[in-house]
Amino acid sequence: MEIIIKATPEEASRYAFEKIREEMERGAKVLGLATGSTPERLYRIMRESDLDFSGMTSINLDEYMGLSEDNPQSYHYFMHKHLFDAKPFKKNYLLDGLADETEECAQFEEIIAANPIDVQILGIGTNGHIGFNEPGTSFDSRTQKVALWQSTIDSNKRYFADEKDVPRFAYSMGIQSILSSRKIILMAFGKEKAAAVKAALEGPITEDLPASILQTHKHVTVILDEAAAQMLS
Ligand code: F6R
Repeated sequence: MEIIIKATPEEASRYAFEKIREEMERGAKVLGLATGSTPERLYRIMRESDLDFSGMTSINLDEYMGLSEDNPQSYHYFMHKHLFDAKPFKKNYLLDGLADETEECAQFEEIIAANPIDVQILGIGTNGHIGFNEPGTSFDSRTQKVALWQSTIDSNKRYFADEKDVPRFAYSMGIQSILSSRKIILMAFGKEKAAAVKAALEGPITEDLPASILQTHKHVTVILDEAAAQMLS
């Protein structure tokens, strides 16, 4: 595991961007993407860059259940606003939050199998989640319906008019789906992520801290700002 610490989220995001550029120059064709505040700067840098994504495929980690694609709080909407509208890809795969659970999750796994992810971008929850795989999720999990923890609902309510509007369930790629990516870039910024980052990188590998499984993956780059790295030994 390679750990990169930059002074600011902006510098860290630029570093992540250069990693993606390098991988694309080496032939990467499939990017796994995350939503949330962590990758927003990276997506801005991608939008403003001269990189051409028209030959690329993207696969997103997760989507809220019950929200339509045109709902401004959906991850479909987020991705179009922050990246896809400015940088068209050949194909964007996102889970459909309105679709039938069994069919949608099985179909998504087929999509991942047919389009192996070259580089997966991840954020991390304050409880150590990756994707929407909350603590306790099996390391063997594949794409499935998940229940969000109250701490996740509390973190994400900033995007909604009211806490009660935050969906309680989502579809998420599972831990195994994420681990099948050839390379993984985990980004974390801010002091509120410091404890989760320390546990994920230096603590025991346990389903109680989903991101700790990344210690077992061969090609993980962790890109932190100083605040998120402050508890590392
Ligand atoms: C979002 C996702 C989540 C977020 C995590 C951190 O697609 O998969 O795991 O990466 O909740 O969210 P932010 O970046 O908003 O702190």
